[in-house]
Amino acid sequence: MNAQTRITHHAASPATLQRNSVHGYSAFRLGGFEFYRDEYFAHIRWESRDSRPMSHSLDVAIFLRALMRDVAWGFFYGWVNFDEVFGTLNHYTSVDLYAGTYNGAMKSAGIDRLETFPTEQIRTVFEQMLDDWTNEGFDPFAAPQETGLAYGPKRGNNRSAITRARELATRCVGLKGDLPLRADHTGSPVNRAFADVPQDEPLIHAEPGFEDQVHAFNLFAFLSRSQVTWNPSFTSVVKHSYMCPTTEEHILPIIHGNDRVEWFFQMCDEIDWSCADKNTGKPLARIIMKAGDMAAMPAYCRHQGFSPKRSMLLVWENGSPSLVYEIQKGESPEVPVEF
Ligand code: PHB
Ligand code: FE
Repeated sequence: MNAQTRITHHAASPATLQRNSVHGYSAFRLGGFEFYRDEYFAHIRWESRDSRPMSHSLDVAIFLRALMRDVAWGFFYGWVNFDEVFGTLNHYTSVDLYAGTYNGAMKSAGIDRLETFPTEQIRTVFEQMLDDWTNEGFDPFAAPQETGLAYGPKRGNNRSAITRARELATRCVGLKGDLPLRADHTGSPVNRAFADVPQDEPLIHAEPGFEDQVHAFNLFAFLSRSQVTWNPSFTSVVKHSYMCPTTEEHILPIIHGNDRVEWFFQMCDEIDWSCADKNTGKPLARIIMKAGDMAAMPAYCRHQGFSPKRSMLLVWENGSPSLVYEIQKGESPEVPVEF
């Protein structure tokens, strides 16, 4: 039986179209984009600039892992490409939703579409879709070996996993009143891949009166206890300088397009990166980063990382809200250094 012919209507918010009576998932609409899921795929439909009916499909596990990051990171910096076709571009009060716009072949064929939404509107629909499409037992933040499957007919939900609070220190992890250190008793056991990471903490001898300002913690131990992958947390913040370390395993679920320079420091093991032109997807570089290597991603690139085993990566972000406009006006460079 054709699944599309067996749909039952139900009362819902305007963004929800209908629930499919065969596998049970709701369909969603955002402007001229429609979203459906079945047992294996997320399908996106839109009308192209030249009025042709277009569609695109992604493996639903890949789609949900990307959707999870986009929601949790508030649309991140610049472009969040779910794959080579579909994604979002953050303008910080509004968000572009696009299909094919940053794919050189689709753009020149005129079969792309881009619409801009107030951030709240797209956030609401994305949150509903993530909630409806994530089955019990599937954790979009977990490494593939540490979660159940995304596939099959609708089966419960995993609300606790998809509404995890982002871990953001205001000054530094472990300072009084700031983000606490991770421990067994806070639900953060050491990951299977990091059983050999020493867990001792540094001894701090602060002059009396400076106890609140002199601080240190064991970052390797902190990271060894991360329960999620590809989810940078803020461990120290100095003005707009954010130290965002994270543990990585398998594939970065988005292809990130930069609107600024960002730095990577590979703290252990290895991540290989595919880098491409952020506007067209034309391949630019393959970067093999081993323990101790540093790299900077220029503002004109998009990149996706591949981590064969769980590794530790420090991402260093310049979170200045004016930087993207300084780069657009040519006042700040697109590269970290010119030789
Ligand atoms: C990135 O896009 O630069 C990025 C995002 C998440 C990570 C690592 C790197 O976990
Ligand atoms: Fe990035």
